[in-house]
Amino acid sequence: MKRFALSLAALLLVPALANQAEASPKNRYDATSQTCRVLDDGPLEWASRPYGEGGKLFRNGCKGCHSRNNDKGAPFLWVESKTSKGWNLIFATRSPNCAKSGAWDTMTIEQLQKLNDYLYRWAANSQDANDSC
Ligand code: HEC
Repeated sequence: MKRFALSLAALLLVPALANQAEASPKNRYDATSQTCRVLDDGPLEWASRPYGEGGKLFRNGCKGCHSRNNDKGAPFLWVESKTSKGWNLIFATRSPNCAKSGAWDTMTIEQLQKLNDYLYRWAANSQDANDSC
């Protein structure tokens, strides 16, 4: 009986997980380079530490200042601070003062694209978002 209950639980769980994976975007239009970026799950992986390349870039390149209770005057930021569109706009326009003052210049254009991919992929409401190109 216990085994039956377990396999029943597994049967119910599998489609739920599959649906979730389908709902998240697989590509995004990158206004900075005017190209379609394919969101490859490998380097974007969220669940596995240390979060793949995009996540590492966010942690090392942004969270150094944007951590909770930092003394740099930077607002706390995490992936869900913005929507996917919001993150795209931030990277396309480089609007934050920290970008203008050169705090992003430690990263190459390619790294900033990967970071943008990562934030786009895991942004607020991103689980319900569709491909953008
Ligand atoms: C050297 C410290 C530093 C680094 C590194 C840094 N920031 Fe900032 N950032 C700041 C500070 C300070 C502000 C507030 C500036 C202001 O309001 O005048 C800010 C503001 C922002 C804002 C606007 C505030 C908001 O809530 O919308 C965004 C977005 C942002 N940063 C994103 C990033 C991203 C993405 C990275 C990594 C690529 C990054 N920052 C790296 C210090 C930093």
